Amino acid sequence: MHHTKLTKPLAPFSRTDCKVLPIEAQSGHDFLPFHTPEIGAEEIQSVVETLQSGWLTTGEKVKRFEADFTEYVGCQHAVAVNSGTAALHLALDAVGIKEGDEVIVPTMTFTATAEVVLYFKARPVLVDCESATFNIDPGEVERKITPKTKAIIPVHMAGQSCNMDRIMEIARRNNLKVIEDAAHALPTRYNGKMIGTIGDVTCFSFYVTKPIATGEGGMAVTDNPEWAERMRIMSLHGISKDAWKRYTNEGSWFYEVHYPGFKYNLTDIAAALGIEQLKKCDRFWAARKQIAAAYDEGFAAVPEIHRPVCKPHSQHAWHLYVIQLDTAHLRIDRAEFMTALKDLGIGTSVHFIPLHLHPYYRETFGYKPADFPNASAAFERIVSLPIYPRMTELDVESVIGAVSKVVKQNRR
Ligand SMILES: Cc1ncc(COP(=O)(O)O)c(C=O)c1O
Repeated sequence: MHHTKLTKPLAPFSRTDCKVLPIEAQSGHDFLPFHTPEIGAEEIQSVVETLQSGWLTTGEKVKRFEADFTEYVGCQHAVAVNSGTAALHLALDAVGIKEGDEVIVPTMTFTATAEVVLYFKARPVLVDCESATFNIDPGEVERKITPKTKAIIPVHMAGQSCNMDRIMEIARRNNLKVIEDAAHALPTRYNGKMIGTIGDVTCFSFYVTKPIATGEGGMAVTDNPEWAERMRIMSLHGISKDAWKRYTNEGSWFYEVHYPGFKYNLTDIAAALGIEQLKKCDRFWAARKQIAAAYDEGFAAVPEIHRPVCKPHSQHAWHLYVIQLDTAHLRIDRAEFMTALKDLGIGTSVHFIPLHLHPYYRETFGYKPADFPNASAAFERIVSLPIYPRMTELDVESVIGAVSKVVKQNRR
């Protein structure tokens, strides 16, 4: 059954109000999904208005969403596209990645981050993560640079910023471009600076589980007007400027194809969602922050659960709350732990199965688990817990209760 009872969504909650109840008595649901998007009346109205407007695809709503996003992040240009993957692809194209180039990518990420490098017949060079944060290890980045290296794609894991000072310094010294994968990082700050204002191009995702959601969608942001223009043109078949306007009264039937581009433009229907979601982005973040704080407190007395390590340089977006199991002190492994939580009605996930463990990357590049000791070890221990604004305080308590119960029943 779907969880429907929302006692206090988005409202500040206090742990002292919560009583630890048996799981089945909590929240009026028998399964708490790993994620549910927070869609309110504003999003619904905005989509309905768009449907009634007579204009469904890229138009004024997309332009508005881009303008709002630019202002929110504090960057110069934003190009809306239909996925985070498309944003990464266009970013690599804009900075000039070519066949035979090498691009440094963390192994601890989703395949999209590396797959876009392969679109160019370039090589994704995988790099291990730091054991504490799971973010790309700058020392390892430096070790993997060759004369063919052209770019680095740091991924801000779970919404915590990578060490951007070191990454930018390494990149500038080696004449490399930095394309940030900020799929998890809205809003994330690094030493006070918004992610989206540091690297050469930064790519966000609005996939349904992400900090703001349009179902599918993404945004590439940059301060470089030429790259922005290139990404805009390539997102719509490589045809001339303002191609989307050709069916408006300001537009013209005439267009020219300048490059073989892609079909990556965002629809106004999706942008209608995005505009309303962006307005709530800070509130969503506050709600996730509160859940993270409750988890931190709830797991403080459970030594087998290692809580996320937060670096002082980062304002964490808390897109994910990733615990590490001290498997040496448990009688069950990570997969059994997740099954036990599922049996108690709690959906969980794993971020990520490191790329070097997947058949494609393993077989194509000959990677072995020992090549990435931190990511390989982390993979055996990580579990992502539900963390999203629709969760009620009882939902949060039910997760803490279930995790604690599974640990207690399986202590070595
Ligand atoms: C780290 C990371 N990068 C890129 C993506 C791709 O985003 P999208 O699904 O919007 O293409 C995702 C998630 O889907 C992700 O988690």
